[in-house]
Amino acid sequence: MSRKIWVFDTTLRDGEQVPGAKLNLYEKLEVAHQLKKLQVDIIEAGFPASSAGDFNAVKEIAMKVGNTDNIMITALARAVKADIDAVYNSVKYAEKPLIHMVLGTSDIHVEKKFGKSKNQILDIGVEAVKYAKTLLPEVQYSTEDASRSDFEYLWSTIKAVVKAGATMINVPDTVGFAVPEEFGELIFKLNDRLKNLNDKVLLSVHCHNDLGMATANTLAAIKNGADKVECTINGIGERAGNAALEEVVMALNTRSPFFNANTNIKTKEIMNTSKLVSSLMGLDVQVNKAITGDNAFAHSSGIHQDGLLKSRDAYEIISPTEVGLDDMELVLTARSGRHAVKNALGKLAFNQLTDEQFEEIFADFLVLADAKKEVYNHDLYIIVEKYFKRHDMNEEIQHHSDNFYELLDLQVISNTIFPSASVKIKKGDQIFKSSAEASGPIDALYSSIKEIIDIDINLLEYKISSVSRGKEALGKVKLQVEYKGEKYVAKATDTDVIKASALAYINAVNSIIVDNLLPEINKEPVAQSL
Ligand code: KIV
Ligand code: ZN
Repeated sequence: MSRKIWVFDTTLRDGEQVPGAKLNLYEKLEVAHQLKKLQVDIIEAGFPASSAGDFNAVKEIAMKVGNTDNIMITALARAVKADIDAVYNSVKYAEKPLIHMVLGTSDIHVEKKFGKSKNQILDIGVEAVKYAKTLLPEVQYSTEDASRSDFEYLWSTIKAVVKAGATMINVPDTVGFAVPEEFGELIFKLNDRLKNLNDKVLLSVHCHNDLGMATANTLAAIKNGADKVECTINGIGERAGNAALEEVVMALNTRSPFFNANTNIKTKEIMNTSKLVSSLMGLDVQVNKAITGDNAFAHSSGIHQDGLLKSRDAYEIISPTEVGLDDMELVLTARSGRHAVKNALGKLAFNQLTDEQFEEIFADFLVLADAKKEVYNHDLYIIVEKYFKRHDMNEEIQHHSDNFYELLDLQVISNTIFPSASVKIKKGDQIFKSSAEASGPIDALYSSIKEIIDIDINLLEYKISSVSRGKEALGKVKLQVEYKGEKYVAKATDTDVIKASALAYINAVNSIIVDNLLPEINKEPVAQSL
């Protein structure tokens, strides 16, 4: 039977240790509510002894998110009374509170960090657990730097703290030193002894990613008997980060016969959680990051797009909808082949093209794709309608491309008194000009575009990044906007980031227009008589 693996999320503690990622109380609460929606089993909400702010945040999370018996709330303490008290006094408001304490077991920690003997450290740990047990029934003990510890000393520590009342034993690979085979073996041996000692105690792992093996080590531990895993959203955390929750969970889901293990995680909430953590902490997700990276489900090579259109399982092991994304994304670029372009044209109802017509349109597509990087549906309309005009096929022209906006020119003034922008935009045969002042240059730019565009859209996210180096660096702007409850993502790239910002906005608007044209088009295919 498939084993249930407990998921302990430490985004708000180990994840928050990332420099610059500190959240305020309201942001922490928002993340904690989202983690509850994701159905993690335990939230580690902070390190309350570190500051009054952290103490309050843990307390609020315990009260407002831990007010149910299907989630545990914990926080971290060193094995000292003051820290344990701070954890107890902040988590006790939860229905299911847990005290988590940490103390090193490796020679480096025992001798160099603490300057004590192994017996002294072991006694400190035992006394700390005994004290914590006077406060709460659930106590987790973390043997810091376990993967570099002497095995027999590690085991004597675990045996002693379990006898003192610890209900969960966490085995951290604190510095990301372990490799999967060796870490799996360690967990197998510990689990064997632990379950003989007390089979009610959960064995947990906490892996860091210094050698890029945090997820692999976590999975090796599960394969070898670990009951619980500690992870963070997007793999954030100290130095190179922690095991990424979404990677561990989706590996268990996707390879379930291999692992024979499952979690409670509601996978459709993964993307929402990833985006929330990334935007509140200001930590971008690497574009090619497994599961939550921008490109994780975007297929751009012609060979792959062709394969996917023939059979999705050719290049897809997880449906994007399983993690809360829209369906598969075939990005049209200069590397897209004929099959992908034909498929995109078919979806716009240009599905009756002869081979000769398609070849000419495909050649135009390649020219545009070379210039524009990514080609959108509205670009395809424009290409096809230009083709109709060139061949005097006037009866075929539905003038859909007259609905799209095109940026002709812009000027933006950035200063502290009155940042302003002016734009010149074309729609069909009409040319519009508009100017606006606002709180900043991008705000002014978007306000001036909004005055021309007659649809009311709401900007949800604006992200700017560099896609090449040096003076000629290309800036990429990515936006998320909302229109009538639907979310649209649009991008644009240019050496001028202000221009890229305007183009991305106009791409978003044009995508909305295409979506609102589509029902009409599907009723009367425009290329029927070709
Ligand atoms: O990496 C580590 O060892 C930790 C412990 C507190 C579990 O973060
Ligand atoms: Zn850690």
